[in-house]
Amino acid sequence: MLHKLFDNKRSQNKSDKNSLMAAVGNTPLVRLNHHSELLGTNIFAKLEFFNPGLSAKDRIIAHIIDKAEQAGKLKPGGTIIDATSGNTGMAMAMLSRAKGYKCVLTVADKASKEKINSLKSLGAEVVLCPAAVKPDDPRSYYQQAIQLSNEIEGAYYTNQNFNSDNVEAHYLSTGPEIWNQLDGKVTHFVAAVGTGGTISGTGKFLKEQNSAIEIIGVDAYGSVLKKYHETGVYDISITHPYKMEGVGKSIIPGNVKFETIDRFVKVGDLKSALRARKMAQLEGIWGGHSSGAVLEAVFKTKESFKPTDNVVILLSDHGSKYLSTIYSDAWVEEKLYSRP
Ligand SMILES: Cc1ncc(COP(=O)(O)O)c(C=O)c1O
Repeated sequence: MLHKLFDNKRSQNKSDKNSLMAAVGNTPLVRLNHHSELLGTNIFAKLEFFNPGLSAKDRIIAHIIDKAEQAGKLKPGGTIIDATSGNTGMAMAMLSRAKGYKCVLTVADKASKEKINSLKSLGAEVVLCPAAVKPDDPRSYYQQAIQLSNEIEGAYYTNQNFNSDNVEAHYLSTGPEIWNQLDGKVTHFVAAVGTGGTISGTGKFLKEQNSAIEIIGVDAYGSVLKKYHETGVYDISITHPYKMEGVGKSIIPGNVKFETIDRFVKVGDLKSALRARKMAQLEGIWGGHSSGAVLEAVFKTKESFKPTDNVVILLSDHGSKYLSTIYSDAWVEEKLYSRP
């Protein structure tokens, strides 16, 4: 069952052959038939890897560039800069090429080789930073992005963690698309939480249509988000390095709108990787590590879903970005099975 509707602003622009920007959004929603049977409910996957940069991040960068141009903050010849685990960087590298801007990216060194090489292929300047340092450390990819945006003339710091245009992009596109694709019959929305843009924007739109829709955030062991949601305490002591990219944080991004999220579920590297691999084999749907994380969260809480529910899970990016990690048997064996 594959729904495609063409009734939001970017979708209508899909017929515009003059800009890569118009190819962003309007991704398919597909029922995961095997997983629906396994879980005793209806699971629909929003396939964000149908975006030109193979991830949901194209939506936010297209919107952030539009808004920065309109506000006069990004001018011809300008440079866009951000700290990114890879997908936002890919969207920035790609769309900056399409629009004639330069692009500088600070990337955590746990990002996969495929992602780093893709960014370089598109002409972006990549600055690798250690993943295993605290966010306020001057070597962290957050601090490096801020420093570089102050140093480079004509730079616009897209600031995906705190720029509210990130949330707005999903509020204006992802939310309405899902609502229309299921004719409003959504009961749950489940997404990995990194910057929070996806869950906060999509969740806000869906809740405005029907406040009974449950919004479930997926967090990682080693991240601070779930505890902060439940206690209001930012506890850096619970952080530790982990492999998943785009799931969880060691900071509290301004774009995680905790009031929109009903509950968080924490998942780990290994089970999430195995879920992604199983999904590829069972459904022919090839998601990244965080796609497996979302599916693992649904399995962990499967008692909460009724046979008549329509649970929408968002698959943020494509499996081809993880050939040297979760889709490599040797990597899984060495990095995930051998960990304590
Ligand atoms: C692979 C992947 N999954 C999930 C996410 C989380 O999305 P968001 O930043 O909108 O919370 C990201 C973003 O960093 C990502 O790159």
